[in-house]
Amino acid sequence: MFPEITHDDVFRLETERLWLRWPRAADADEIRRHVGDPDVALMTASIPHPYQAQDAHAFITSARLENAAGGGLHLVITPKNRPGDPIGLVSLHGADRRGAATFGFWLGKPYWGQGYTTEAARALIDLAFGITSLDRIVSSVRPDNPSSLHIHEKLGFRRTGRGILAAPARGGDIEVEQFELKRGEAHTLFGARRPRFSSP
Ligand SMILES: CC(C)(COP(=O)(O)OP(=O)(O)OC[C@H]1O[C@@H](n2cnc3c(N)ncnc32)[C@H](O)[C@@H]1OP(=O)(O)O)[C@@H](O)C(=O)NCCC(=O)NCCS
Repeated sequence: MFPEITHDDVFRLETERLWLRWPRAADADEIRRHVGDPDVALMTASIPHPYQAQDAHAFITSARLENAAGGGLHLVITPKNRPGDPIGLVSLHGADRRGAATFGFWLGKPYWGQGYTTEAARALIDLAFGITSLDRIVSSVRPDNPSSLHIHEKLGFRRTGRGILAAPARGGDIEVEQFELKRGEAHTLFGARRPRFSSP
């Protein structure tokens, strides 16, 4: 799905306040600290709770493999002044034959409510529609997750109905609101500030 430019871990995305970069082994403790919070894990379909060190290492390995193969792009969110500190994640993965990839994200609780997830998501979506041939991005949100529902609406996602999502980390199926974002309908154009090039 993603072209060669994203297949190496030197790849970075810059936004106004953030660097988005590949997860790496040294991120394991911080990732575990953030997603170990049940308020983060339990809103997702795939993050186990309780979350063990081996879960963080397994996630980092599989994310790096998928990034390297171009089958998806998982980027940790870091503050620009602390690029070593992962505070969240945005990802697109699993593109199907009909050209739809699945969107996911989380942010560490101390950082909620400052627009970081929206800022990171805009940059990833701009990139995806800019450099891949994806037609659609799909996503599922628990109905009791107002913050995530609001983010999807701000980004231009449309609700396509209620559905059931297989959520092994939650012990079975969960009810979700389903969303899709079609190429050309994203509320992202120039939403992420482009790098500035200073003249000599
Ligand atoms: C969902 C999550 C990523 C949001 O991160 P965040 O950086 O705080 O999100 P943002 O600040 O970019 O945007 C949140 C928006 O929701 C709004 N919001 C927050 N609580 C809300 C509520 N109870 N009702 C309606 N809107 C709400 C905020 O005001 C903000 O909108 P605004 O910028 O228009 O004011 C974070 O809470 C999280 O990690 N949750 C657990 C994991 C999760 O839910 N992942 C997504 C699974 S689908």
